[in-house]
Amino acid sequence: MIQVEHVSKRYNKSALVVKDVSFHVGEGQIFGLLGPNGAGKTTLMQMISTLLTPTEGSVKICGHDTKQSPRQIRERIGFLTTEIKLDPLSTPNQLFDFFGELYDIPKEQIPVKKKESFERFGITPFADKRIMELSTGMKQKISIVISLIHDPQVIIFDEPTNGLDILTSRQVMDYLLELKALGRSVLLSTHIFSVAEQLCDEIAILVDGTIVEQGSAEELTAKTESKNFEEAFFKLYTKYHKEG
Ligand SMILES: Nc1ncnc2c1ncn2[C@@H]1O[C@H](COP(=O)(O)OP(=O)(O)OP(=O)(O)O)[C@@H](O)[C@H]1O
Ligand SMILES: [Mg+2]
Repeated sequence: MIQVEHVSKRYNKSALVVKDVSFHVGEGQIFGLLGPNGAGKTTLMQMISTLLTPTEGSVKICGHDTKQSPRQIRERIGFLTTEIKLDPLSTPNQLFDFFGELYDIPKEQIPVKKKESFERFGITPFADKRIMELSTGMKQKISIVISLIHDPQVIIFDEPTNGLDILTSRQVMDYLLELKALGRSVLLSTHIFSVAEQLCDEIAILVDGTIVEQGSAEELTAKTESKNFEEAFFKLYTKYHKEG
C-alpha cells in the first residue's frame, strides 16, 4: 500500500535531513515512525503525502508514484499534519460541509457522515462554535474527522495524539485500531513510546533522518536486551545519535 524506497531529502543547500529511508506498510497494518524532535518525521510524511518532493528515491501509494500521479494519491490518503491549521473563524459544521463538497461526497451523505463522526468524537455540542474558541483536543479531533471524510484507504497521521489528554488520546488510538481492522494502512509518527508500543505492528526508530532499527516493540526490546520498550528506544538513540 505504501512503498518508500531509498528516500532522501535536503532543503535548499542544507545537509540531508532524511537519509536513504525505505519501508513498506501493508493493508491492515499500523506502521510507526518513532523519533525525537528534528529526526525528520514530518519531512518524511510530507514527501509521502506529495507535499514535498524527495531529493532522491521514490514513494508509491496503492501502486501510484508520488511524482507521476500526485492527484491519484491525494484521493487515496487521509493526511493529518501538525503544520496545517483549521480556519479560526469557521465552525466545525461549516468546515465539514466545505471539505465534504471538496471531496465530492454525495450531498445527501454529508449530514449523515457528519452526525456519525461528530457524535463519535463528542464534537456535536461544539459544532456551531468558532474554531478559535475550541480547546486543542477538540481542534485535533475535528482535524482527524475532516482528514478522513473521504474514507481513504491509506492514513498518514503526523503526531495524532500531540497535545491530547489521556482520554482523548485513547479515543484517537481506538479509532486507528478500528481503521486497521477495516484493512486500512496506517502510517503514524510519534515521539511517545507508549503510543508506538500500543498501536504499531511495526516501528521504525528514526534518528537524525535515518532508520536505525525496525521491528515490533517486542522485537526491538529483545534485540537491544532492554527491560522495556522505552529503554530500547533510549539505547538505540544513544548508540546512533551523533552530537553536532
Ligand atoms: N522548511 C524547512 N527548511 C529547512 N529545514 C527544515 C525545514 N523543515 C524542517 N527542516 C529541518 O529538517 C530537520 C527535520 O525536521 P522535521 O520537522 O522533519 O522533524 P520532526 O521529526 O518532524 O521533528 P518534531 O518532532 O519536532 O516535529 C530539522 O533539522 C529541521 O530543522
Ligand atoms: Mg514533526
